[in-house]
Amino acid sequence: MPIVSVAAPAKDSRYEIHIGRGLLRSCAALFAPYAGRKAAVVADSNTAPLYADALMAQLSLAGVQPALITLPAGETTKCPEQLSALYDAFLDLRLTRRDVVVALGGGVVGDIAGYAAATYMRGTRLVQVPTTLLSQVDSSVGGKVAVNHPRGKNLLGAFCQPDMVVIDCDTLLTLDERQIGAGLGEVVKYGCIADSDLFDLLERLGSRAALMAQIDEVVARCCAIKARYVHEDPFDHGVRMQLNFGHTLAHALENGMGYGTLLHGEAVSIGMVAAAGWGEALGVTPKGTQGRIRALLTAYGMMTDIPEGLTAQALADSMALDKKADGAKVNTVILTAIGACTGVPLTPDQLRALLTA
Ligand SMILES: NC(=O)c1ccc[n+]([C@@H]2O[C@H](COP(=O)([O-])OP(=O)(O)OC[C@H]3O[C@@H](n4cnc5c(N)ncnc54)[C@H](O)[C@@H]3O)[C@@H](O)[C@H]2O)c1
Repeated sequence: MPIVSVAAPAKDSRYEIHIGRGLLRSCAALFAPYAGRKAAVVADSNTAPLYADALMAQLSLAGVQPALITLPAGETTKCPEQLSALYDAFLDLRLTRRDVVVALGGGVVGDIAGYAAATYMRGTRLVQVPTTLLSQVDSSVGGKVAVNHPRGKNLLGAFCQPDMVVIDCDTLLTLDERQIGAGLGEVVKYGCIADSDLFDLLERLGSRAALMAQIDEVVARCCAIKARYVHEDPFDHGVRMQLNFGHTLAHALENGMGYGTLLHGEAVSIGMVAAAGWGEALGVTPKGTQGRIRALLTAYGMMTDIPEGLTAQALADSMALDKKADGAKVNTVILTAIGACTGVPLTPDQLRALLTA
């Protein structure tokens, strides 16, 4: 079973990401340190019926007292009202700071349960059990937790490193293809910005079916890359911005098409192809890189082109408003090779010109 170790600055310690297949049915030993304590297992209306029984049985075997809290599935759950309901459920369970919150689900569950764990009684223990590809390779690693505010996404958040992350890649067998694609966008991104060997491997595998046969190794590799970024830049002030490759356009696409029309990973897929083209036009990215990325994403059934109906003007205006905009410039992640990147500040005029080139 691959184990990735993450340096956890806030707790001045390390935590481990355990990755395997069938782990939800064999993880009792991992929970042994919580024997005698309560576990609030937070799931959503999709993951609870699929996986809560198996996880709760393992917790019981470990001598932990589990209780299930089920939230409605979907992004709208990441809101202050559901957060308040979660606190109520913790209080009803008489959860204390000695006890543990276990987040069983995708990024939505991980983010809201994580934020509740970070703030309830000034912080309880947290274990992440991510069940989507996106949450396995991205959101469960790094300690960012949040809920949305009516005025914006993830506006109420905290850094809360988990005690551990338990990833059972077999949970991906029940995930629909579109959600797999959303996670694949992030997997390809890691190859582009930090690991040319991973990019080569993805090219060699060349299809979702072949990739899924090796998904636990690929997830472990992605977690190791994310762990490196988290170690170097725990509070997201510097090098971690490289993880935003493809995001400059992705946010504008999500905004322009209405949030929820494209999944985030789908928008990132289009954004990476565009950013590789911008890099080539600027002379920073080697010629041919965009073609390689486009071909790889196409082989995995991902979108690569800006959908019809969105103008360069509107997208550039939206990018200029991006929260990573620095004064009049938008700090954009540009590849210097497959597996390496740098930040390049671009003005809205430059972005408009690159979009229409
Ligand atoms: N904290 C971070 O660092 C970070 C990073 C990236 C994204 N995020 C957040 O993550 C969220 C998106 O996460 P997501 O893409 O995992 O979405 P999600 O949690 O909404 O899950 C997608 C859908 O799949 C269902 N599902 C989950 N696991 C399943 C399984 N194994 N089988 C069948 N269905 C399953 C869910 O119920 C949901 O309907 C966003 O809110 C985003 O802001 C956070």
